[in-house]
Amino acid sequence: MFKNNSKAAITAVGKYLPSKRLTNSDLEKMVETNDEWIRSRTGIKERRIVEKGQASSHMAISAFKNLQKKYNVNPEEIDVIIVATVTPDMLFPSTACLIQNEIGANNAFGFDLSGACSGFLFALDTGTRFIESGKYKKILIFGVDTMSSIVDYKDRNTCILFGDGAGVVLLEATNDGTGIIDSELRCDGSGGEYLKMKAGGSLKPATHETVESREHYAYQDGRQVYKYAVKGMADISYNIAKRNKLTSDTIDLFIPHQANKRIIDSAAKRLGISEEKVLINIDKYANTTAATLPIGLVEAVERNMVKKGDNIILSAFGAGFTWGAIYLKWSLFN
Ligand code: UT7
Repeated sequence: MFKNNSKAAITAVGKYLPSKRLTNSDLEKMVETNDEWIRSRTGIKERRIVEKGQASSHMAISAFKNLQKKYNVNPEEIDVIIVATVTPDMLFPSTACLIQNEIGANNAFGFDLSGACSGFLFALDTGTRFIESGKYKKILIFGVDTMSSIVDYKDRNTCILFGDGAGVVLLEATNDGTGIIDSELRCDGSGGEYLKMKAGGSLKPATHETVESREHYAYQDGRQVYKYAVKGMADISYNIAKRNKLTSDTIDLFIPHQANKRIIDSAAKRLGISEEKVLINIDKYANTTAATLPIGLVEAVERNMVKKGDNIILSAFGAGFTWGAIYLKWSLFN
């Protein structure tokens, strides 16, 4: 029974990374770059890439199946499916519908949410409000992106940065004092020009010309995005900690979006926390856009970095611009 003081808690987690690795030395053969530059500027050593024919729904379904291997979840009991992604299988139907059908969530409704690298935070906060309303009991929140489908492997500025992956969490109500406590989410469309896909939407539908001019790939002015990301992610992480009276001692774990190790280090420094309290996996997976945070949550469990009641801050910055942070008290006995 829902009580007024109930919070939304993450009660199960799962992730999926494709097995195919694309290393920095592989990229050296494709564009003019080198391992040393990529490692020192970004922290990335390799990334995972789907096989041809595999799309976001397939990775998301695999993430859910991995969740089910560890946690007892009946798909028939799921009320809502929210999928954060900028690389849906198709513009429509939604990836949420494809996942719903495949996992047998026969009593659910669902939708996709486009928040780029902050998408998982936006979806998690939306799901939290649904739980808090008391109307919905079990919600699946996916963060998934098949970045290899929109990355230009002839553009050294972007192709080194991204990888494919998926993560999922189950949200349910709890009254035990844990769960999602606070959030701060932002967007600023004036930064839209610095990171975008120029064609393929209603403004510039696909034509021979848009394909020839490579406008269906992700475009980024990295230097500009870096400038805003480094400040945006550090400020919002600090704000949410301060508002909730968290200090470097009482923050147990910081799970940041994995876009650049230097951005992560700046945010951690602003929080005053040491590296053992920061979840870092950018070296293995690069930037999987909406999937970095749920993958990070699963890895935190796998690496025994969290226990029930721990104070965790999630934060991200991405295209839009979009950014945000969520403070939660961990709900699971691992
Ligand atoms: O998750 C979504 C949000 N995205 C981000 O948060 C990404 C933010 N941006 C970044 O992380 C960084 O800006 C990058 C990693 C993309 C680039 O690093 P940077 O230190 O800002 O490099 P830069 O763009 O200032 O380029 C420095 C030099 C340039 O050469 P010149 O003009 O100084 O001669 C680039 O042409 O490095 C060159 N360069 C490369 N060299 C080797 C750019 N890409 C490469 C490359 N390999 N792949």
